[in-house]
Amino acid sequence: MTIDDIDFAALYRQHMAQSQRRPKPPSAWDARAESLGRKPLGGAYAETFISRMDLTGCRSLLDVGCGPGTIGLLLADRLEEVIGMDYSPGMLEQLEHHASRLGLDNVTPLLRAWEDDWHDVPTCDIVVASRSGMVADLQDALAKLNAHARQRVYMTQLVGGHFLDAELASLLGRRRASAPDYIYTVNLLHAQGIHPRLSHIEVPSRLAGTRDFDEFAQRVAWSLGELSAEETARLEAWYRADSRRAAAGGAPMRWALIDWEPSG
Ligand SMILES: C[S@@+](CC[C@H](N)C(=O)[O-])C[C@H]1O[C@@H](n2cnc3c(N)ncnc32)[C@H](O)[C@@H]1O
Repeated sequence: MTIDDIDFAALYRQHMAQSQRRPKPPSAWDARAESLGRKPLGGAYAETFISRMDLTGCRSLLDVGCGPGTIGLLLADRLEEVIGMDYSPGMLEQLEHHASRLGLDNVTPLLRAWEDDWHDVPTCDIVVASRSGMVADLQDALAKLNAHARQRVYMTQLVGGHFLDAELASLLGRRRASAPDYIYTVNLLHAQGIHPRLSHIEVPSRLAGTRDFDEFAQRVAWSLGELSAEETARLEAWYRADSRRAAAGGAPMRWALIDWEPSG
């Protein structure tokens, strides 16, 4: 057997099934849109992402799972057209709000899911999928990115398969099986003769910087589901035991930035 005999698309689906992650409906993201939209655009993650992009000769960008416009909006003044695609109407409202606040008139929202038909989605010079690629069918998602990018695709995916500090999840008895991470993308592209560039972006935990324990517990519940009173007490003990660790929200998170030319 060689690596060529492995069906990475099937393996990914199997891994996703084992991780028991149910896809979040758009309403779950709508509920977070306002608070995400309130955060200033930019920051270390977005700046690092953008610093690794090559926009030479590019005029248009499609940002898939754009959220409030984290990547697309920061590039809009260097491009003729930015399309922000998301399945959450709340996120697209935030995108439009930021675009008008910044005086940008070249940003178009597009309400669409990864799983939808993309036949009328415009092809752009660059396609970005930043932290939005936890899909049920990765092979289909990559085919869509490749079909809609003229010059380059930039995608970030989780490293290691856990969104939260695994030790913290274990403490709550909620350690989950890992979700599939970026390595499936590398292998699926490799099988198509595409050899992507790979780098990493390390960011603080999504539990970092909370004002108080209530906010911290809410963020944990967003990732792990509702907490019982007993779990909340255990979490609070962890939070109060080490203020520096609590402020950092546990271990940092790493994203893999994978970029490639769609034609290989
Ligand atoms: C973690 S946020 C990332 C937002 C932004 N790209 C960033 O890097 O900050 C994930 C985004 O993907 C969107 N999303 C999740 N599942 C999706 C799906 N199946 N189709 C389209 N968008 C989806 C969510 O609404 C959310 O805006």
